[in-house]
Amino acid sequence: MKIPVVLSIAGLDPSGGAGIIADIKTFSYFKVYGMGVITAITAQNTFEIKRVKAVEKKLFDEELFTVLNDIKPTSLKVSMLPCDYMVGSIKNAYEKYKLKNIVIDPVMISKHGNELTSKKVIKTMISELFPITDVLTPNITEAEFITGLQIKNYEDATNAARSISYMGVKYVLIKGGHANSDKSNDILYHSGKTKIFRHKRINTKNTHGTGCTLSAAISANLSKGYTAEKAVDIAIRYTNRAIKNSLNIGSGNGPLNHFL
Ligand SMILES: Nc1ncnc2c1ncn2[C@@H]1O[C@H](COP(=O)(O)OP(=O)(O)OP(=O)(O)O)[C@@H](O)[C@H]1O
Ligand SMILES: [Mg+2]
Repeated sequence: MKIPVVLSIAGLDPSGGAGIIADIKTFSYFKVYGMGVITAITAQNTFEIKRVKAVEKKLFDEELFTVLNDIKPTSLKVSMLPCDYMVGSIKNAYEKYKLKNIVIDPVMISKHGNELTSKKVIKTMISELFPITDVLTPNITEAEFITGLQIKNYEDATNAARSISYMGVKYVLIKGGHANSDKSNDILYHSGKTKIFRHKRINTKNTHGTGCTLSAAISANLSKGYTAEKAVDIAIRYTNRAIKNSLNIGSGNGPLNHFL
């Protein structure tokens, strides 16, 4: 049996709602084979992040290249990158193994306000990884930082997405989860055209791992051969359903329900 293979490069959230564990749950829902290279171990639960410890360069490279020497993924998902050297290693791996279907979730700050990377790393990502990115999924704060623009409405978001596309990204999805409104609209920009995915804001505190789940679902569906537009569409509907049916696990921001 042939099965699409997806590699996630992300952090470990031991509470299972975000990071590599959320990615693997999402990959499993879509019946693709999931693999994971860990960038950082965090100590966190649903209400706080106590510590973030990045994986040192030697171990990170060994994790990444040992897997790739054996198994070539159909798509690659990159999220939390706490250190510069990870960016360089991923670029080398992309060139050496001719990787395809690259989804990057440029994670910067956690829901609880912890910095998960530095501005310097994001700048290196812009120059090294954006030109090879098929789908980039910044939230509003991340899109503002990347472009230096303020996003208050649909037009601002379109301008920011266009500016990110000039950095080399093929499809830019600006997520509306943090919009100051009763809607959570996501905007997909590609080659001068914009598509809006409209949603009412779901009234729940259980939104731990929404961004991870969405980008993992996009990767899974790209690996199955869907176009970027279709993969984004399926992924947004899946994430929305997972938020609507989210789980009251833990006393803070609970996780999504990945299996409906
Ligand atoms: N309360 C909500 N109601 C409906 N949709 C939501 C809600 N919160 C987030 N979403 C959706 O979840 C997806 C992820 O968006 P979000 O802006 O939360 O990403 P993020 O900030 O990167 O998440 P994370 O905090 O996990 O990194 C988007 O499709 C967004 O519209
Ligand atoms: Mg995020």
